[in-house]
Amino acid sequence: MRPSTIAIDGPAASGKSTIGYHLADCLGYLFLDTGVLYRAVTWVAQDRGIPVEAEDQITRLGEDVEIEVLPSAATDGRQNTVKVDGRDVTWEIRSPRVERDVSPVAAYPGVRHALTKRMREIACKGYVVMVGRDIGTVVIPDADLKLYVVASAGVRAQRRYMELREKGKDVSYEQVLAGIHQRDRIDSSRATAPLRAAADGITVDTTDLSVETMFAEVERLVNQYDAVKCEQGVRNESSRV
Ligand code: CDP
Repeated sequence: MRPSTIAIDGPAASGKSTIGYHLADCLGYLFLDTGVLYRAVTWVAQDRGIPVEAEDQITRLGEDVEIEVLPSAATDGRQNTVKVDGRDVTWEIRSPRVERDVSPVAAYPGVRHALTKRMREIACKGYVVMVGRDIGTVVIPDADLKLYVVASAGVRAQRRYMELREKGKDVSYEQVLAGIHQRDRIDSSRATAPLRAAADGITVDTTDLSVETMFAEVERLVNQYDAVKCEQGVRNESSRV
């Protein structure tokens, strides 16, 4: 039997989206990188000149704004096409400006509540790989398979730095590392749905893994799904004694 709902969480640039996209592709499942929803709300707030401190206004955006996450048709490296009120913002939501404000926006409980509702509507249909910070702990705590993808901050910053340089962005490694540390801190310490591994999640450390090895490792976990479930059942049984 294959897992129908797969939840993948982890800090910035740990490899979770790359893994999630690959698994969805292999299994023929829907792929949803939930970070794009928080990024889209942050982008609209900035576009409308709403300051990041305006929690009530930003919460209303989270509730009302039309966000579409579509399968990617373009061949420019995108995993999905993201539209806000019909406008393609796929690359704009990746800008340093959005990146600077997205974690404070994602810490607002009302924004999380509104976006979590949208995510659950998608998850309940099954056959989905969903990626984020709180998918296995809050959004779909009953997901069939939960992965928690980690890597050292230095390696994560190097990966993100290379991605940005390839897109022609003028950033330094030190700036990227500082941004990653800051988002890790906000995402892990917020009161609502902080970043953490689910108790029944499997941690995959990608620090020293090539993309090929990383794919092989997660494919092994999916293929061993029945065995993994069984092992977890035994572990839960013994912890209850
Ligand atoms: O790609 P990267 O890991 O850098 O970030 P992302 O997954 O696009 O998420 C951007 C931000 O959205 C994160 O730093 C979190 O603050 C927030 N987020 C969240 O709080 N919960 C989620 N399920 C997904 C993202």
